[in-house]
Amino acid sequence: LRARVALNPAAVVAPVNRRTFGSFVEHMGRCVYTGIYEPGHPSADEDGFRTDVLALARELGVTMVRYPGGNFVSGYRWEDGVGPRERRPRRRDLAWRSIETNEVGIDEFARWAEKADVEIMYAVNLGTRGVQEALDVHEYVNHPEGTALSELRRANGADKPHGIRIWCLGNELDGPWQTGHKTAEEYGLLAASTARALKSAEPDLELVACGSSGSSMPTFGAWESTVLEHAYEVVEYVSCHAYYEEHDGDLGSFLASAVDMDHFVNSVVATADAVGARLKSKKKINISFDEWNVWYLSRFQNAPRTDEWQIAPRVIEDRYNVADAVVVGNLLISLLRHSDRVTAACQAQLVNVIAPIMTEPGGPAWRQTIFHPFARTAALAKGDVLETRVDSPTYDTARYGEAALVDAVATHDPATGDLTVFVVNRSVADPVEFTVDLAAFGAGWSVAESVTLTDDDVRATNTREDPDRVRPRPTARIPTGAVSVGGDCVTLSLPRVSWTALRLT
Ligand code: AHR
Repeated sequence: LRARVALNPAAVVAPVNRRTFGSFVEHMGRCVYTGIYEPGHPSADEDGFRTDVLALARELGVTMVRYPGGNFVSGYRWEDGVGPRERRPRRRDLAWRSIETNEVGIDEFARWAEKADVEIMYAVNLGTRGVQEALDVHEYVNHPEGTALSELRRANGADKPHGIRIWCLGNELDGPWQTGHKTAEEYGLLAASTARALKSAEPDLELVACGSSGSSMPTFGAWESTVLEHAYEVVEYVSCHAYYEEHDGDLGSFLASAVDMDHFVNSVVATADAVGARLKSKKKINISFDEWNVWYLSRFQNAPRTDEWQIAPRVIEDRYNVADAVVVGNLLISLLRHSDRVTAACQAQLVNVIAPIMTEPGGPAWRQTIFHPFARTAALAKGDVLETRVDSPTYDTARYGEAALVDAVATHDPATGDLTVFVVNRSVADPVEFTVDLAAFGAGWSVAESVTLTDDDVRATNTREDPDRVRPRPTARIPTGAVSVGGDCVTLSLPRVSWTALRLT
């Protein structure tokens, strides 16, 4: 089997957006408590943050982190999480049926974000709350000084405002499971009035209206259209959320999950542009793909529910395998390919909860398989995204019809001259020979790095006991992998079910 792509430095889609490499910390399960925060852990710093997790978050290359939810935010009172810890109330979290201690709130999270060197994307509660509470939390975090809530922040030890630029107007309010679920009409009006109020306080905020919780939602398309009819001129983004899993052992369909992500993005762009045309607006709405990942949602939905209200219970701690990592690498390829319109994205979530980083309370932190394609893509995708039209053999999938066996995206950094290609082989059985034609760039390329994530056992995982079982290895050292440069072309042999990053210099 053979696939081929010809790259051209002039065929630029858009610059790589650093916000593409966002992640998500929700007050859910063990993401915050015993995830990023565990006073008493041997690695904890003076603020109670696990430095082993901080080091892994930096290695992952995360640039922006959405906080504090998620479904959690739709019942959250931000003021519970500020001020002296001993006075903070314990509350029920209806979304995950657990107890929130409020030991961590926005001031602590801002300190963590500074240490992790990430931007915060802050979500306000538009489930049980409205315009006033959104204004209040904005005044607390962003107003410099001299007002009741900015002075409260200063009295709580944060002298400087947190300066949060990008704000989500609620979370998944199209979902019947959401506390405060709304119709598109109700939500569109609320999002627009909240956006107007926030922008009266700070005109250059970047605001994200909730789009659909998935492309299979019954209101998909109509929801975006109605919401944007109301909010078009006062928001910059509409969100997309998507989670993928292997259904009934159908690995071939699962490996083609990025086909759905491409379709999702194209549909939302078309819908947003149609609203813009109807409104005769010159403005374009971009996409914030602020929840995406592999999530074995059906296992969670079928698991027995406990009636206990616990603090930081183990919730959706999925263990990822090789195939999951290949899909995550492919979803990043899809996000990069749409860099002209997807200008922010968050993998959900960062630690323990469907996460690239796992921890044990009092114990180690380690990298799941999905950590690796994220980390290498975040490190290597620099400069411009190039149009990458792969001529590939196809295969039939039950879920997505005919899909390409090979999918890829390339970035070119005019500053360093480096050219990087990210590529997956979705074949469950066969290696594919993949040729990158560089004639439009001229000759003289050499391979600076070529790593491949694959394994004879596509179900292999990383565990506490064997944390490095699955990781990228030099392509040439993998039995069915190879890389060679000849004339104007570089040729890779891609093992079955594999993700590869190739950096040329
Ligand atoms: O990331 C887990 C959950 O998935 C989030 O809380 C919610 O927004 C989505 O349904």
